[in-house]
Amino acid sequence: MNIPFMRLDRQFEQHKDAIMALCEQVFSHGRVLQGPEVANLENQLCDLMGTTEAVAVGSATDALFFALIAAGIKSGDAVAVPAMTFVATASPVIRAGAKPVFVDTGDNFQPDVSQLIDLVNSGSVQAVVAAHLYGQLFDITPLADACRANGIVLIEDAAQGIGATYNGSAPGAQSFAASLSFDPMKVAGAFGSGGAIVTNNSAAAERIKRLRYHGRDKSRSYQELGYNSQLASIQAAIVGFKLEHLDEWTERRQQIARRYTAVLDEISSATPPLELPEARHVFHKYVLTAGADRDRLKKHLAAAGVGTMIHYASPLHREPMFAEYLNTESSFPEADRLSREALSLPMYPELDDTDVDHVCDQLTRFGW
Ligand SMILES: Cc1ncc(COP(=O)(O)O)c(C=O)c1O
Repeated sequence: MNIPFMRLDRQFEQHKDAIMALCEQVFSHGRVLQGPEVANLENQLCDLMGTTEAVAVGSATDALFFALIAAGIKSGDAVAVPAMTFVATASPVIRAGAKPVFVDTGDNFQPDVSQLIDLVNSGSVQAVVAAHLYGQLFDITPLADACRANGIVLIEDAAQGIGATYNGSAPGAQSFAASLSFDPMKVAGAFGSGGAIVTNNSAAAERIKRLRYHGRDKSRSYQELGYNSQLASIQAAIVGFKLEHLDEWTERRQQIARRYTAVLDEISSATPPLELPEARHVFHKYVLTAGADRDRLKKHLAAAGVGTMIHYASPLHREPMFAEYLNTESSFPEADRLSREALSLPMYPELDDTDVDHVCDQLTRFGW
């Protein structure tokens, strides 16, 4: 059997008619940039995320950069970021002229909230970028309270958290802004790059609308140095279509996750991801830890035709581009451990039951 880590081809096959109809719609009206589909998507995002504002941009990387600028982060500022995340949680901090200050991982793959709160309370950072990883949110409330009390900016990197909630609340509710990604691998991916900012701060939304298109305001006057970071109408239409299916697809992801977890629960040397009762886990990724068996398990699954990936094989403090921001005493033992032990299994709603049976079977057969 062959079960690739991702199957965008199967997704297209299953929804070809709807997707092609959307292409025809956009190409026929011709407003391929800033067409009505972009405003429609922004309205959909406000409904889904519970914010008053949403601004679609070219990628989540740009979204985070624009949020930092809109929050007033400037050259010389220090911004707390997790060490264990995708590079684009931290690179926009450098692009904004600021300095990333890394924190280790705490519970459940999420940033160590107590380390973040200590940095906030000690006045060592001007902002925090907190990433919610793999489709489950951590409890942002204690961190948001600390940031509010100290006048520190809190931005949520919710690239992987579209549709996820914690105690019913979505990213953006308690922070300055949250960034979302429509990268093709995400739960509502475009056929290309895309992202958005959601916020309840209308001034920030206006500023980000200017930044995404050359600094131009509503009166078409160029107010400041801006960028060209537009979400194409066709991508907005496709993401909008996928958001309409998000609940149904999330249920399928959860079913698959629970099947994997039922198998892994029986294996003492494997740890499945924890699904917190107060969280709605959308399973953007299914990340288990397999201790010292990880590399052997990856090879075993590859030999059985099961594609896996490692999120993340190299934490950011090990990447050359961040070396200049580390102190000699910096250490991130939990991020390092996860980089050695974590393994992501195939996770997409288009996996059929036979695929899932095969993955479960191979997990059972592995010589743990
Ligand atoms: C945690 C995290 N942050 C930021 C990004 C960047 O998203 P984009 O590819 O839309 O720029 C990603 C996407 O892979 C991500 O997973």
